[in-house]
Amino acid sequence: MKTVTTTKALQSEIYKLKEQGLSIGFVPTMGALHKGHLELMKTARTNNDIVVVSIFVNPTQFNNPNDLRNYPRTLEEDKMKCESVGVDIVFVPSVEEVYPTPDNRVFDFGNLDKVMEGEHRPGHFNGVAQVVSKLFSLVKPTRSYFGQKDFQQLAVIRALVHDFGIDVDIVACPTVREDDGLAMSSRNDLLSAKQRASAPLISKTLFAAQNFKAQKTVKEMITWVIKEINADSEMEVEYFDVSNAQTLQPITDWSDADEVVGCVAVQVGNVRLIDNVIFK
Ligand code: PAF
Repeated sequence: MKTVTTTKALQSEIYKLKEQGLSIGFVPTMGALHKGHLELMKTARTNNDIVVVSIFVNPTQFNNPNDLRNYPRTLEEDKMKCESVGVDIVFVPSVEEVYPTPDNRVFDFGNLDKVMEGEHRPGHFNGVAQVVSKLFSLVKPTRSYFGQKDFQQLAVIRALVHDFGIDVDIVACPTVREDDGLAMSSRNDLLSAKQRASAPLISKTLFAAQNFKAQKTVKEMITWVIKEINADSEMEVEYFDVSNAQTLQPITDWSDADEVVGCVAVQVGNVRLIDNVIFK
Protein backbone atom coordinates (compact mmCIF):
# COMPACT_ATOMS: atom_id res chain seq x y z
CA MET A 1 0.00 0.00 0.00
CA LYS A 2 1.30 3.43 -0.94
CA THR A 3 0.70 6.53 1.16
CA VAL A 4 0.63 9.69 -0.90
CA THR A 5 0.47 13.17 0.59
CA THR A 6 0.68 15.56 -2.37
CA THR A 7 -1.71 16.11 -5.25
CA LYS A 8 1.23 15.95 -7.65
CA ALA A 9 2.30 12.49 -6.45
CA LEU A 10 -1.30 11.30 -6.50
CA GLN A 11 -1.86 12.54 -10.04
CA SER A 12 1.26 10.80 -11.27
CA GLU A 13 0.09 7.50 -9.70
CA ILE A 14 -3.39 7.91 -11.19
CA TYR A 15 -1.94 8.74 -14.62
CA LYS A 16 0.01 5.44 -14.64
CA LEU A 17 -3.05 3.44 -13.58
CA LYS A 18 -5.32 5.08 -16.14
CA GLU A 19 -2.78 4.45 -18.88
CA GLN A 20 -3.04 0.74 -18.10
CA GLY A 21 -6.84 0.95 -18.37
CA LEU A 22 -7.36 -0.08 -14.72
CA SER A 23 -10.62 0.66 -12.91
CA ILE A 24 -10.36 2.73 -9.73
CA GLY A 25 -12.68 2.35 -6.74
CA PHE A 26 -12.53 5.37 -4.46
CA VAL A 27 -13.60 5.73 -0.82
CA PRO A 28 -13.36 9.30 0.47
CA THR A 29 -13.15 9.48 4.28
CA MET A 30 -12.28 11.83 7.09
CA GLY A 31 -10.41 9.05 8.90
CA ALA A 32 -11.20 7.62 12.36
CA LEU A 33 -12.08 4.55 10.35
CA HIS A 34 -14.62 2.04 11.62
CA LYS A 35 -16.18 -1.14 10.24
CA GLY A 36 -18.59 0.89 8.11
CA HIS A 37 -15.68 2.46 6.23
CA LEU A 38 -13.98 -0.93 5.92
CA GLU A 39 -17.14 -2.40 4.34
CA LEU A 40 -17.03 0.38 1.72
CA MET A 41 -13.38 -0.47 1.03
CA LYS A 42 -14.08 -4.20 0.82
CA THR A 43 -16.89 -3.58 -1.68
CA ALA A 44 -14.57 -1.32 -3.67
CA ARG A 45 -11.89 -4.06 -3.53
CA THR A 46 -14.30 -6.62 -4.98
CA ASN A 47 -15.38 -4.47 -7.92
CA ASN A 48 -12.28 -2.59 -9.03
CA ASP A 49 -8.66 -3.20 -10.06
CA ILE A 50 -7.34 -0.50 -7.74
CA VAL A 51 -8.71 0.91 -4.48
CA VAL A 52 -7.89 4.47 -3.42
CA VAL A 53 -8.89 5.87 -0.01
CA SER A 54 -8.57 9.51 1.00
CA ILE A 55 -8.20 10.54 4.64
CA PHE A 56 -8.82 14.25 4.98
CA VAL A 57 -10.71 16.11 7.70
CA ASN A 58 -12.22 18.73 5.43
CA PRO A 59 -12.44 22.08 7.24
CA THR A 60 -14.90 23.62 4.77
CA GLN A 61 -17.71 21.24 5.74
CA PHE A 62 -17.58 22.06 9.46
CA ASN A 63 -19.80 24.95 10.48
CA ASN A 64 -18.76 24.51 14.11
CA PRO A 65 -15.04 25.10 14.91
CA ASN A 66 -15.25 22.94 18.07
CA ASP A 67 -16.62 20.06 16.04
CA LEU A 68 -13.66 20.39 13.64
CA ARG A 69 -11.16 20.59 16.52
CA ASN A 70 -12.66 17.59 18.33
CA TYR A 71 -13.05 15.39 15.26
CA PRO A 72 -11.14 12.15 16.06
CA ARG A 73 -7.81 11.78 14.26
CA THR A 74 -6.23 8.30 14.26
CA LEU A 75 -4.02 8.26 11.17
CA GLU A 76 -1.63 5.43 12.01
CA GLU A 77 -4.44 3.03 12.97
CA ASP A 78 -6.40 4.15 9.91
CA LYS A 79 -3.53 3.27 7.59
CA MET A 80 -3.22 -0.20 9.15
CA LYS A 81 -6.94 -0.76 8.70
CA CYS A 82 -6.73 0.29 5.04
CA GLU A 83 -3.85 -2.10 4.48
CA SER A 84 -5.78 -4.95 6.13
CA VAL A 85 -8.56 -4.75 3.53
CA GLY A 86 -6.27 -4.47 0.53
CA VAL A 87 -6.29 -0.74 -0.23
CA ASP A 88 -3.67 0.19 -2.84
CA ILE A 89 -3.27 3.94 -2.29
CA VAL A 90 -4.07 6.10 0.73
CA PHE A 91 -4.18 9.81 -0.03
CA VAL A 92 -3.51 11.90 3.09
CA PRO A 93 -3.22 15.51 1.95
CA SER A 94 -2.75 18.64 4.05
CA VAL A 95 -5.33 21.43 3.92
CA GLU A 96 -2.92 23.44 1.71
CA GLU A 97 -2.68 20.58 -0.78
CA VAL A 98 -6.45 20.36 -1.18
CA TYR A 99 -7.05 24.12 -0.99
CA PRO A 100 -3.92 25.90 -2.32
CA THR A 101 -6.19 28.92 -2.64
CA PRO A 102 -9.47 29.40 -0.77
CA ASP A 103 -12.31 27.51 -2.42
CA ASN A 104 -15.00 30.13 -3.06
CA ARG A 105 -17.24 27.93 -5.15
CA VAL A 106 -20.89 28.05 -4.17
CA PHE A 107 -23.02 25.05 -5.10
CA ASP A 108 -26.77 25.07 -5.33
CA PHE A 109 -28.61 21.77 -5.16
CA GLY A 110 -32.06 23.33 -5.06
CA ASN A 111 -34.06 22.12 -2.08
CA LEU A 112 -31.91 19.01 -1.55
CA ASP A 113 -29.34 20.77 0.60
CA LYS A 114 -31.67 23.23 2.31
CA VAL A 115 -33.49 20.77 4.58
CA MET A 116 -32.37 18.66 7.56
CA GLU A 117 -28.53 18.74 7.77
CA GLY A 118 -28.50 21.65 5.33
CA GLU A 119 -30.80 23.67 7.57
CA HIS A 120 -29.07 22.78 10.83
CA ARG A 121 -25.48 22.90 9.57
CA PRO A 122 -25.40 25.87 7.18
CA GLY A 123 -22.67 25.53 4.55
CA HIS A 124 -22.02 21.88 5.38
CA PHE A 125 -23.02 20.46 2.01
CA ASN A 126 -21.26 23.25 0.14
CA GLY A 127 -18.06 22.11 1.87
CA VAL A 128 -18.80 18.46 1.08
CA ALA A 129 -19.39 19.35 -2.60
CA GLN A 130 -16.15 21.39 -2.69
CA VAL A 131 -13.99 18.59 -1.33
CA VAL A 132 -15.68 15.69 -3.11
CA SER A 133 -15.54 17.45 -6.50
CA LYS A 134 -11.82 18.20 -5.93
CA LEU A 135 -11.10 14.62 -4.87
CA PHE A 136 -13.00 13.26 -7.88
CA SER A 137 -10.97 15.44 -10.22
CA LEU A 138 -7.70 14.21 -8.65
CA VAL A 139 -8.52 10.51 -8.25
CA LYS A 140 -10.63 10.15 -11.43
CA PRO A 141 -12.45 7.15 -9.95
CA THR A 142 -14.50 4.68 -11.95
CA ARG A 143 -16.74 4.16 -8.92
CA SER A 144 -17.01 5.89 -5.57
CA TYR A 145 -18.51 4.41 -2.42
CA PHE A 146 -20.69 6.14 0.20
CA GLY A 147 -22.62 4.87 3.22
CA GLN A 148 -26.40 5.19 3.44
CA LYS A 149 -26.14 6.45 7.01
CA ASP A 150 -25.39 9.85 5.47
CA PHE A 151 -28.56 9.65 3.41
CA GLN A 152 -28.71 13.33 2.51
CA GLN A 153 -24.99 13.47 1.68
CA LEU A 154 -25.53 10.62 -0.76
CA ALA A 155 -28.39 12.54 -2.44
CA VAL A 156 -26.23 15.68 -2.68
CA ILE A 157 -23.29 13.76 -4.17
CA ARG A 158 -25.57 12.11 -6.72
CA ALA A 159 -26.83 15.58 -7.65
CA LEU A 160 -23.24 16.90 -7.86
CA VAL A 161 -22.24 14.14 -10.25
CA HIS A 162 -25.39 14.59 -12.31
CA ASP A 163 -25.33 18.42 -12.47
CA PHE A 164 -21.63 18.67 -13.35
CA GLY A 165 -21.47 15.64 -15.63
CA ILE A 166 -18.77 13.93 -13.55
CA ASP A 167 -18.02 10.51 -14.97
CA VAL A 168 -18.15 8.31 -11.86
CA ASP A 169 -20.61 5.68 -10.63
CA ILE A 170 -21.84 6.47 -7.14
CA VAL A 171 -22.33 3.26 -5.17
CA ALA A 172 -24.50 3.40 -2.04
CA CYS A 173 -23.67 0.87 0.68
CA PRO A 174 -25.92 -0.14 3.58
CA THR A 175 -25.42 1.37 7.03
CA VAL A 176 -23.23 -0.84 9.20
CA ARG A 177 -24.40 -1.15 12.81
CA GLU A 178 -22.96 -2.20 16.15
CA ASP A 179 -24.54 -5.33 17.68
CA ASP A 180 -26.90 -3.11 19.69
CA GLY A 181 -28.10 -1.34 16.53
CA LEU A 182 -26.17 1.93 16.87
CA ALA A 183 -25.12 3.11 13.40
CA MET A 184 -21.34 3.08 13.12
CA SER A 185 -19.86 6.56 13.13
CA SER A 186 -16.47 8.05 13.88
CA ARG A 187 -18.30 10.28 16.36
CA ASN A 188 -19.33 7.26 18.49
CA ASP A 189 -15.77 7.30 19.87
CA LEU A 190 -16.51 10.67 21.44
CA LEU A 191 -19.43 9.38 23.55
CA SER A 192 -19.01 8.87 27.30
CA ALA A 193 -19.87 5.40 28.63
CA LYS A 194 -23.27 6.66 29.78
CA GLN A 195 -24.01 8.35 26.45
CA ARG A 196 -22.85 5.24 24.57
CA ALA A 197 -25.31 3.17 26.62
CA SER A 198 -28.14 5.55 25.68
CA ALA A 199 -27.34 5.97 21.98
CA PRO A 200 -28.83 2.66 20.69
CA LEU A 201 -32.26 4.07 21.58
CA ILE A 202 -32.01 6.06 18.34
CA SER A 203 -32.00 3.04 16.02
CA LYS A 204 -34.31 1.07 18.31
CA THR A 205 -36.90 3.84 17.97
CA LEU A 206 -36.44 4.08 14.19
CA PHE A 207 -36.89 0.32 13.74
CA ALA A 208 -40.00 0.35 15.94
CA ALA A 209 -41.37 3.25 13.89
CA GLN A 210 -40.81 1.26 10.71
CA ASN A 211 -42.76 -1.67 12.18
CA PHE A 212 -45.91 0.20 13.08
CA LYS A 213 -46.00 2.82 10.36
CA ALA A 214 -49.48 1.63 9.34
CA GLN A 215 -50.88 2.61 12.73
CA LYS A 216 -49.83 6.27 12.70
CA THR A 217 -50.14 9.32 10.51
CA VAL A 218 -46.88 10.99 9.46
CA LYS A 219 -47.47 13.75 12.01
CA GLU A 220 -48.15 11.27 14.81
CA MET A 221 -45.04 9.32 13.86
CA ILE A 222 -42.83 12.40 14.02
CA THR A 223 -44.18 13.31 17.45
CA TRP A 224 -43.77 9.75 18.71
CA VAL A 225 -40.16 9.32 17.52
CA ILE A 226 -39.08 12.63 19.03
CA LYS A 227 -40.80 11.84 22.34
CA GLU A 228 -39.30 8.33 22.58
CA ILE A 229 -35.74 9.52 22.03
CA ASN A 230 -36.05 12.64 24.18
CA ALA A 231 -37.32 10.45 27.05
CA ASP A 232 -33.66 9.61 27.63
CA SER A 233 -32.13 12.58 29.46
CA GLU A 234 -28.81 12.10 27.61
CA MET A 235 -30.41 12.84 24.26
CA GLU A 236 -32.14 15.64 22.45
CA VAL A 237 -33.57 15.30 18.96
CA GLU A 238 -32.57 18.15 16.66
CA TYR A 239 -34.93 17.05 13.93
CA PHE A 240 -36.81 14.01 12.74
CA ASP A 241 -38.11 14.50 9.20
CA VAL A 242 -40.23 12.11 7.17
CA SER A 243 -39.51 12.85 3.52
CA ASN A 244 -39.70 11.79 -0.09
CA ALA A 245 -36.51 9.68 -0.37
CA GLN A 246 -35.70 11.14 -3.81
CA THR A 247 -36.30 14.86 -3.28
CA LEU A 248 -35.89 14.90 0.53
CA GLN A 249 -38.89 17.19 0.77
CA PRO A 250 -41.05 16.55 3.84
CA ILE A 251 -44.30 14.66 3.25
CA THR A 252 -47.52 14.92 5.24
CA ASP A 253 -49.16 11.66 4.13
CA TRP A 254 -47.55 8.24 3.62
CA SER A 255 -49.01 8.17 0.10
CA ASP A 256 -47.26 11.44 -0.88
CA ALA A 257 -44.21 9.57 -2.21
CA ASP A 258 -43.31 6.11 -3.52
CA GLU A 259 -40.14 6.01 -1.46
CA VAL A 260 -40.18 7.46 2.04
CA VAL A 261 -37.27 7.99 4.43
CA GLY A 262 -37.19 9.14 8.04
CA CYS A 263 -34.00 11.00 8.99
CA VAL A 264 -33.00 11.96 12.51
CA ALA A 265 -30.26 14.04 14.10
CA VAL A 266 -29.75 13.71 17.83
CA GLN A 267 -27.54 15.69 20.15
CA VAL A 268 -26.04 13.30 22.71
CA GLY A 269 -24.18 15.63 25.05
CA ASN A 270 -21.74 17.43 22.74
CA VAL A 271 -21.85 14.67 20.14
CA ARG A 272 -24.23 14.91 17.22
CA LEU A 273 -25.40 11.59 15.74
CA ILE A 274 -27.52 10.97 12.65
CA ASP A 275 -29.41 7.91 11.45
CA ASN A 276 -32.27 7.09 9.11
CA VAL A 277 -34.88 4.48 8.30
CA ILE A 278 -36.54 3.61 5.01
CA PHE A 279 -40.31 3.53 5.55
CA LYS A 280 -41.08 2.41 2.01
O1 PAF B 1 -18.75 11.33 4.81
C1 PAF B 1 -17.65 11.83 5.05
O2 PAF B 1 -16.82 11.28 5.77
C2 PAF B 1 -17.28 13.16 4.42
O3 PAF B 1 -18.38 14.00 4.36
C3 PAF B 1 -16.62 13.02 3.03
C4 PAF B 1 -17.56 12.41 2.02
C5 PAF B 1 -15.37 12.17 3.16
C6 PAF B 1 -16.20 14.40 2.53
O4 PAF B 1 -15.30 15.03 3.39
